[in-house]
Amino acid sequence: MVAFALLALLLTAAVNLSLGQGVKFVIDSGFIAGSKEQLSSAIIGLIALISLLAVGTFIRFYIMSWLGERVSADIRKAVFSRIVTLHPSYFEENRSGELMSRLTTDTALLQSIIGSSFSMALRSFLMLMGGLVMLLVTNFKLTLIVVVCVPLILVPVMFYGRKVRRLASSSQDAIADIATYAGEIIQNIKVVQSYTHENSERNSFDTEVEKAFTVAKSRVKQRSFLIAAVIFLTFGAISMMLWVGGMDVLSGKMTGGELGAFVFYAIMVAMSVATVAEVYGELQRAAGSATRLLELLKVESDIKESSSPSLMKTGQECVIEFKNVYFNYPSRPDSAALKDINLVIPTGKIVALVGPSGAGKTTLFELLQRFYDPQQGQIKFNETEITQLSLMSLRQEMGMVPQHPILFSSDVWHNIRYGNPQATDEEVIIAAKRAHAHEFIEQLPEGYSSFLGEQGVRLSGGQKQRIALARAILKDPGVLLLDEATSALDAESEHHVQAALNEFMANRTTLIIAHRLATVVHADMIVVMDQGKIIDIGDHKSLLNSSTLYRRLCELQFDKAAEQA
Ligand SMILES: Nc1ncnc2c1ncn2[C@@H]1O[C@H](COP(=O)(O)OP(=O)(O)OP(=O)(O)O)[C@@H](O)[C@H]1O
Ligand SMILES: [Mg+2]
Repeated sequence: MVAFALLALLLTAAVNLSLGQGVKFVIDSGFIAGSKEQLSSAIIGLIALISLLAVGTFIRFYIMSWLGERVSADIRKAVFSRIVTLHPSYFEENRSGELMSRLTTDTALLQSIIGSSFSMALRSFLMLMGGLVMLLVTNFKLTLIVVVCVPLILVPVMFYGRKVRRLASSSQDAIADIATYAGEIIQNIKVVQSYTHENSERNSFDTEVEKAFTVAKSRVKQRSFLIAAVIFLTFGAISMMLWVGGMDVLSGKMTGGELGAFVFYAIMVAMSVATVAEVYGELQRAAGSATRLLELLKVESDIKESSSPSLMKTGQECVIEFKNVYFNYPSRPDSAALKDINLVIPTGKIVALVGPSGAGKTTLFELLQRFYDPQQGQIKFNETEITQLSLMSLRQEMGMVPQHPILFSSDVWHNIRYGNPQATDEEVIIAAKRAHAHEFIEQLPEGYSSFLGEQGVRLSGGQKQRIALARAILKDPGVLLLDEATSALDAESEHHVQAALNEFMANRTTLIIAHRLATVVHADMIVVMDQGKIIDIGDHKSLLNSSTLYRRLCELQFDKAAEQA
């Protein structure tokens, strides 16, 4: 396509240049010679050239725009396919608004550059070169004026162009800030309104927008200066040429047609220089966008897959083992989230993780799924280090219900089937029943086809949790990870879910994080954590004797329950 576009570009440039000869012919052979026939045939030739120009322009415009759209579509796809594989901590460092702006604004800018500005620049450059050659052919003395003027014009282009480029990239950043800000407010509109922060949010947003405007304003000012300077210089030069050339025609050193053609080419050269100047700023902006996009395309995930991943072994006694694991989040290099974790989780058992908020329970789940890698120690899965397994087989093995259920803006079918896209409708319904979700789903206006809104806003907290649970159940994983999966349910629903889950958890390794200890008293093994360390391990009865922290937690919860009873 690029080759075709270049061909069309060359064709239109050539036709444009030959139009000057047409002008000369019309003036000299038509008007000056006073011949009507010659005038008519000259005009016919002119019309033929113009038709050719129209066809060439159509092809050039179509192909160039096609290229712009194609390139931006391809870049969008490439950027997104890179983003979905990146390590989660990348998204803690880079705000979503910024990434979004790269996917939309930066790619759109590239599209307009390739689709129009770049072709304009290329065409102008060709015309500039061709025009200069034709000028030389037509009249040497006058060309000298042009040649002296062109560098004069190019100096401000270079100077302001660099300024524009710097301002453009900060302009882009300011727009990304706006997007991030608005996105966050819209997502949390209820909190904003409940705390009646509409006015202060409005003011902060206004400040962000004004900041972006100020940056854009100085960019626009630089460009306006640039364009004005170029126009003044070029047309000044043309006037001077007309004066010198007119004198030559009057004294008979040059024909009127030659001067006509010369002015035609000079205007063409001037307009080309002006276009190049205007587009130059745009190209500078695009260079900024392209740099940012390329940076994003070059980011490597911190979670490296082994080049020759081993297969997941099955039927082992010990399914998961943590060995001397130390871990701190990348954003907090000085405080360890997990310290000296040693833990063996046997196959087919139910293991509960309990402990105060911030103890590191969720962090343990994240390491197990390799969202982060520990700085020290090893995690083994069926006696293979998880770094040796392929991410796919490791994560396929686990079904996770996160602490805050995540739903996609779609219907119930889609949200549950996320656990297993191949599942039939019957299987989805069975999973929903196991998560005690079937009843309330049936009562939704359109049952399983009901749209749940963005992030499932149309459901209650407990309903969201049960959909997330059904999703994990449908995945039918070897290891079930429940992070406060029933914390938002009422006692009765929780009882139903527990009953249904007991059957599902039989012979399946299950890790449960729970604050409500009543839900874990029957676990095969309870791990008590505090401040990133494992303090005690045992079952409910033995821990009541051996662990002061566990006993205190139990007393606080069960005494309160007894009191209320
Ligand atoms: N993405 C993160 N970046 C930096 N620090 C984090 C991150 N996530 C959690 N932490 C910190 O790590 C520690 C352990 O957090 P974790 O989420 O594992 O606690 P938890 O035991 O699950 O608590 P809770 O019962 O409240 O859910 C906390 O001190 C927390 O502030
Ligand atoms: Mg947690």
